[in-house]
Amino acid sequence: MNEDDPNKKKRSNLVIREMEIDDIADVFHLGEKIFTAREVPNLYRTWDEYEVVSLFQSDPEFCLVAESDEQIVGFLLGTTIEKSHSAWKYGHLVWLGIEPEFQRQGVAVKLFKHFQELMLDSGVRMLLTDTEADNLAALHFFRKMGFGQPQQHIYLTLNLTGQKRQVREKKNNERTQTRRPDRKNG
Ligand SMILES: CC(C)(COP(=O)(O)OP(=O)(O)OC[C@H]1O[C@@H](n2cnc3c(N)ncnc32)[C@H](O)[C@@H]1OP(=O)(O)O)[C@@H](O)C(=O)NCCC(=O)NCCS
Repeated sequence: MNEDDPNKKKRSNLVIREMEIDDIADVFHLGEKIFTAREVPNLYRTWDEYEVVSLFQSDPEFCLVAESDEQIVGFLLGTTIEKSHSAWKYGHLVWLGIEPEFQRQGVAVKLFKHFQELMLDSGVRMLLTDTEADNLAALHFFRKMGFGQPQQHIYLTLNLTGQKRQVREKKNNERTQTRRPDRKNG
């Protein structure tokens, strides 16, 4: 890479810092761009305003942004989990996203390393994350960061439209049956 390489400039200006309240809109819109481009991951994990706000509200210290020339170019939103029957504390990397123009420049690595340090400091013994099976960029990334033992999880759906119609029809029938005696008397 030579000195004029614009990528080198972008990387040298990069700062990883804790997310602040004023970053919420930028992070949300960057996520919208990234996750909509990949099509919404799935209904179980939906990127919306509440996701960003609630993670920021519950664990602001585990919500990080990557900033370059006052532009948010990446984010990592995480949390910790403590289970009642386990002495272990788990760290959950919930969302990670990098502005497409800044991808493959080590931004995610920097965010992740910072997150890992925070997790260690807070007593976390294991990190968890998840991604879609066809998200090869994320899978490569997570493997490179040391994640392993992938476990398959199958999502199933049950369409309740038919049952909803049945419930509505049943209610209508009950209503007409309770009205009938009045009509006879009237
Ligand atoms: C996955 C993602 C976060 C990686 O961010 P990034 O900043 O581009 O990653 P880095 O530059 O730090 O890459 C580190 C390593 O990860 C792997 N990697 C990253 N992107 C890759 C890709 N598109 N294809 C293959 N490997 C990839 C490589 O091993 C890479 O090292 P190398 O560049 O030396 O080969 C980014 O592609 C992204 O935002 N994707 C969309 C959102 C997403 O899927 N998030 C994860 C689930 S929440």
